[in-house]
Amino acid sequence: MIKKRILITGGAGFVGSHLCERLLNEGNEVYCLDNFFTGQKRNILHLISNPYFELIRHDVTNPYLIEVDEIYNLACPASPIHYQYNAIKTVKTSIMGAINMLGLAKRVNAKILQASTSEVYGNPMVHPQPESYWGNVNPIGERSCYDEGKRAAETLFRDYQHQNNVHTKIVRIFNTYGPRMHPNDGRVVSNFIVQALQNQDITVYGKGEQTRSFQYVDDLLEGMIKTMATDRSFSGPVNIGNPDEFKIIELAEKVIAMTKSKSKIVFKPLPSDDPMMRKPDISLAKKTLDWKPKVELEEGLDKTIAFFKELIK
Ligand SMILES: NC(=O)c1ccc[n+]([C@@H]2O[C@H](COP(=O)([O-])OP(=O)(O)OC[C@H]3O[C@@H](n4cnc5c(N)ncnc54)[C@H](O)[C@@H]3O)[C@@H](O)[C@H]2O)c1
Repeated sequence: MIKKRILITGGAGFVGSHLCERLLNEGNEVYCLDNFFTGQKRNILHLISNPYFELIRHDVTNPYLIEVDEIYNLACPASPIHYQYNAIKTVKTSIMGAINMLGLAKRVNAKILQASTSEVYGNPMVHPQPESYWGNVNPIGERSCYDEGKRAAETLFRDYQHQNNVHTKIVRIFNTYGPRMHPNDGRVVSNFIVQALQNQDITVYGKGEQTRSFQYVDDLLEGMIKTMATDRSFSGPVNIGNPDEFKIIELAEKVIAMTKSKSKIVFKPLPSDDPMMRKPDISLAKKTLDWKPKVELEEGLDKTIAFFKELIK
């Protein structure tokens, strides 16, 4: 018997494809909706033959109607290269996508979860960042299309809940990595691994002293699913991320060692609005969801390196 009918927007992307797979494996019927802007068929190719999996080519900026029990709204390019490629489209995807999916949730009485981001904290003045921190975001910078789009989407989630009683959830996702990341989207983990496997110079911005926390994708899925499972008394936002901090330079050295690469580290100027520090305060997730990340950086890197080795061989 099918447990739930679940719509995943952005389901052919990095995180979305893992979520499709996991929710199918748990006995649900999964509808994967994607416009294939950054998502790829190969991410979900292994799911196509499953009769409980359906692929829908659609753009979330247009309304879509389907009878479902739950919606995970992930559609949005997530890496700066991709979201800056067409900044206006990025804002539209976040805001119109949220309006269309919230409208659908209202109509069919589905629970809906928004994949928000730590970028809503901007260049934070508070460290680590709790959910109560309002952020320090530049509204007119190069990253604003993404940051402000996601902030407005959170507002919409809150307002649809208060005004229309839609059952909403917001998770604020911190840096996540794993197999099926886009090989050249400029995200730090995939960048370093691809450069190391090809023995190319590894580019570090600034002096590499800026810190980041890296979460393995399986930990994120667990956090999202646990959030979705909560009742109406909890809607978030809740931080889902790994609080273990690493300097970017440390990550570069670790990747070089693990891939036994001959790459050298080269330094380039810091991009504008690049936050110096990012670390989640996960007390709320621990308390409310009984969730904390389990996968150590080396274990996650090992699986990610294996994926990229296969991809670029
Ligand atoms: N990976 C991370 O570290 C991270 C961190 C914070 C938040 N997030 C959020 O999680 C979600 C998934 O991120 P990801 O890393 O898997 O990125 P991704 O780029 O791999 O996936 C996004 C997916 O959305 C699809 N998409 C984009 N615009 C669309 C549109 N208009 N209509 C339909 N589909 C569209 C893309 O084709 C892609 O499949 C995003 O919303 C992102 O903002 C991710």
